[in-house]
Amino acid sequence: MVAVPQCFVGRFLFSGLRASSSRTLSCAQRTWLHGRARSHSASSDIPGVKERTLVAVKPDGVQRRLVGQIIKRLEQRGFQLVGLKMVQVSEELLAQHYVALQKKPFYPSLLRYMTSGPVVAMVWEGHNVVKSTRMLVGDTNPAAAAPGTLRGDFSVHVGRNVVHASDSTEVAQKEITLWFQRSELVDWECCDHGNIYHP
Ligand code: RTP
Ligand code: MG
Repeated sequence: MVAVPQCFVGRFLFSGLRASSSRTLSCAQRTWLHGRARSHSASSDIPGVKERTLVAVKPDGVQRRLVGQIIKRLEQRGFQLVGLKMVQVSEELLAQHYVALQKKPFYPSLLRYMTSGPVVAMVWEGHNVVKSTRMLVGDTNPAAAAPGTLRGDFSVHVGRNVVHASDSTEVAQKEITLWFQRSELVDWECCDHGNIYHP
């Protein structure tokens, strides 16, 4: 099959659709037209849509090949990925990331755990994304995490709980700045924005 640039397909489809009756449009076509009709900065019209959070698949989650399933859950919820990278985390970064836990007895084992292999760090964007992602991740202790949450579905022990998520909007901003350069984050508009948000 010949690869056709997206912008060409879009222009072709749009000129064809202008002449069509809306009753004859497929769901995908209506979604595309709806997105086209909204202004490019549609998401900034809705308060809180640009909220961001840090999510990190911890070394056990990466080793167990759970990265795809974790991304899938956030995508299917309707959140938008704006940053993604795999990193071997340094103890220096973790010391800042877990600064509030440095006096805890489990801190040394937490450092060993988090440096035991690569981590997949992500920034997700959307309305209430910090709170919603914490709920999706579930309780810190997997034994208390509800079925259906990531920890409730994928983990058993607090010392191997698969995924991290920022616990407040203030912490999220600090963590995103700690883990990502500004140039590593992408501002982009999702074409089906009107199917996720009501203005
Ligand atoms: P995270 O920061 O990783 O998203 O986890 P959290 O907010 O749910 O929990 P937090 O209190 O911030 O703890 C950070 C991580 O430390 C490990 N931990 N081990 N009793 C223990 O052995 C213990 N308690 C906490 C967990 O990996 C926890 O996610
Ligand atoms: Mg935490």
